[in-house]
Amino acid sequence: MSKEFKYIGKSVPRVDAVGKVTGQTRFITDEYLDRMIYAYPFYSDIPFGKITAIDISPAASQPGFLGVLSASDIPGQNQVGVIIEDQPLFADPLVRFIGDSIGIVVAETESAARQAARLVNIQYEEFNPIFSINDSKAATGNFIHDSNVACQHQVDKGDINTGFAAADQIIEADFKTQFQEHYYLEPQGCIAIPEENGGITIHGSIQCIYYVQKAVARVLGIPQSVVKVIQTPIGGAFGGKEDIPSELCARAALAAVKFNRPVKMVYNRRDDVQLTSKRHPFQIHFKVGVSNAGKLLAAHIRLEENSGAYATLSTVVSYRSSIHAMGPYVIPNIKVRSTAYYTNLPTTGAFRGFGSPQATFGHERMMDIIADHLGIDPVELRLKNVLRPGDLTQTAQKLEVSVGAEETITSVRDRSSWNSLRQNNQNDRRYLTGIGIAASHYGNCLGAAGWALDGAGVKIQIRRDGSVGLAYGLADMGQGALTVITQMAADALGINSQRISVLAPNTDLVPDSGPGVASRNVVMTGNAIRDAAAKLEPILKTAAAEMLGTDAESIKIENDLIFVDDVKKSDFNILADYLFVGNSQMDMLGWWHVPALEYDPVKGIGEAYFTYSYATHVAKVRVDRLTGLVFVDKIWAAHDIGKAINPAGLEGQVEGGTTQGIGWALTEQFKFDRGRVLTDNLSTYLLPTIADVGEVETILVENPEPLGPWGAKGIGEPAIIPTAAAIANAVSHAIGVQMNEIPLTPEKVLDAIEGRTH
Ligand code: MOS
Repeated sequence: MSKEFKYIGKSVPRVDAVGKVTGQTRFITDEYLDRMIYAYPFYSDIPFGKITAIDISPAASQPGFLGVLSASDIPGQNQVGVIIEDQPLFADPLVRFIGDSIGIVVAETESAARQAARLVNIQYEEFNPIFSINDSKAATGNFIHDSNVACQHQVDKGDINTGFAAADQIIEADFKTQFQEHYYLEPQGCIAIPEENGGITIHGSIQCIYYVQKAVARVLGIPQSVVKVIQTPIGGAFGGKEDIPSELCARAALAAVKFNRPVKMVYNRRDDVQLTSKRHPFQIHFKVGVSNAGKLLAAHIRLEENSGAYATLSTVVSYRSSIHAMGPYVIPNIKVRSTAYYTNLPTTGAFRGFGSPQATFGHERMMDIIADHLGIDPVELRLKNVLRPGDLTQTAQKLEVSVGAEETITSVRDRSSWNSLRQNNQNDRRYLTGIGIAASHYGNCLGAAGWALDGAGVKIQIRRDGSVGLAYGLADMGQGALTVITQMAADALGINSQRISVLAPNTDLVPDSGPGVASRNVVMTGNAIRDAAAKLEPILKTAAAEMLGTDAESIKIENDLIFVDDVKKSDFNILADYLFVGNSQMDMLGWWHVPALEYDPVKGIGEAYFTYSYATHVAKVRVDRLTGLVFVDKIWAAHDIGKAINPAGLEGQVEGGTTQGIGWALTEQFKFDRGRVLTDNLSTYLLPTIADVGEVETILVENPEPLGPWGAKGIGEPAIIPTAAAIANAVSHAIGVQMNEIPLTPEKVLDAIEGRTH
């Protein structure tokens, strides 16, 4: 582990930076093909009901109109549910939210397709819609699907009644979190190209190329082997391009086959917001038993999620939130129920953290309420209970190594001067000040529930000129994966990073590597690189030995050079050419699958994830007593990521995630009017800007994970997870009122300061 690498651990510049800042990077909207036509969906404008008639004649009279495709035109199955099969590609006959697509219009131009789609006239029989979790739970009939429960996960460890009986104090509280819209800058889009063999090629802004491959094959009724999916550069995703691209691509593919021409479909912003997934709103109930000394003894936790019209990734969110419900703490007795309920709203699905930010909001607000109740400092309470090596998690998983939770807490405590700021606030006539802490953990990759999908590969191809192509199967959606992959591959092969080109993810190049989600990329792709490099090493050394007239054991390949017994003899260019003329193997598939996990899904007990990243954030805030506005002056963010492959890139992830967490905590208020999105523009949905984000100080805790590549664990999602809870804890500290519901809008904060309830 102490070996010094040429690239790993260094803040090398992003390999995709120049293209992005000069505009040379070609996103899907930049792509045009000869004879290309355009498709656009028409969708339900009522939240719940049954289609009784579709009149396409007003659309058909538009210039450029080519045709309409709906459920009856699907040659394969009308199904795109990613985990639970509850979601038709085209509604038939039930519509379950405003935005449920009924069909697509195909036209010669993009504007003709969009205009004509608006003119399709649908008649409905309307049903009473359901929008809230509570109304969904209370319904006794007219369910949205067979029942209104989309899915449930549970944890049952020990005996909570015994735990509560032994407790000195039993404390209860309720929490609520809101929707969050991804608001990636690049809307959803794809191009589908019909192929001569009856297959199809898809290009698009896609996190999960293999999900799209499966969905397209299924809808068209053709084998996956003739469906090629290629990822174009992604202009932000945050989970929003996990499941939704399957819908877009399958729709465009249908049109491509029907008209035998390339078909492009890109959503405009308003439709992107109305039609696509969001972060699940949660309502959370905690009942926790503690000793007077502050030891957690028992917890009964109820998590309820608004799933929207279809389950999509709700199963992942309810699983993850159940596993992470009590946070990075030791608790002997626990009962968790995490349930997602269908409503007649757009789907909620994957969004950075998969339910962990919501679960963390619950447990970290709860820890502060307990601390307040017992008169213990919030940091002290956390340190009394935090998971350390050798401890059992809430699912009775024994943690042995790479457990940096405690160090993340103590490092933010020390760097933020917690003790002095917590005790001496600097209130003045205008501002109330406060400081809050939140700790979290995050199971890396898909966990026990998704174990079967949790393998991924790379294909390393050495060219005759000594350059190297590297294909992988996941996604760089802006987080810097391409750079990190290049760094890992260069050090693994002992070559200069300039030799390496990371190829666009393409289903033809690498076997099904599962979804590009769950902070999997560094861990999965990195381990696959290690595997490929280890398999290539004997081949390269044998060839080099033959070329140099020695034995393989005396060969070393480092820094682009070939050494014999530590004497420089040749270089990688010459070796590559020798491989070619010598008929050596020049490419290698590397593969890594998460090791077997012992887990009981009925009780929710066992090894839920193979390892965890840990994070603690401290937020220092100022609250304006006159306006209720909250200013986040500084966030200290400590992350145990095992090993930072690129420290500057990692800091970028932490700053981005923290900013997104500030938005979720304070300004992002997603609003509907009977199922229609009102906040479908950045003038009404307030994303934080640079003016809303104070200083962010990233603190790296490097506690190597032996199963991670070079010790690394994931950072993409941990970056956002504790931020909102830390801010809510800081605001609660500043104003002396427990703030249990986000977003903390000025109105809500002012009401709390002035003692109004709402
Ligand atoms: Mo992301 S929530 O892992 O697609």
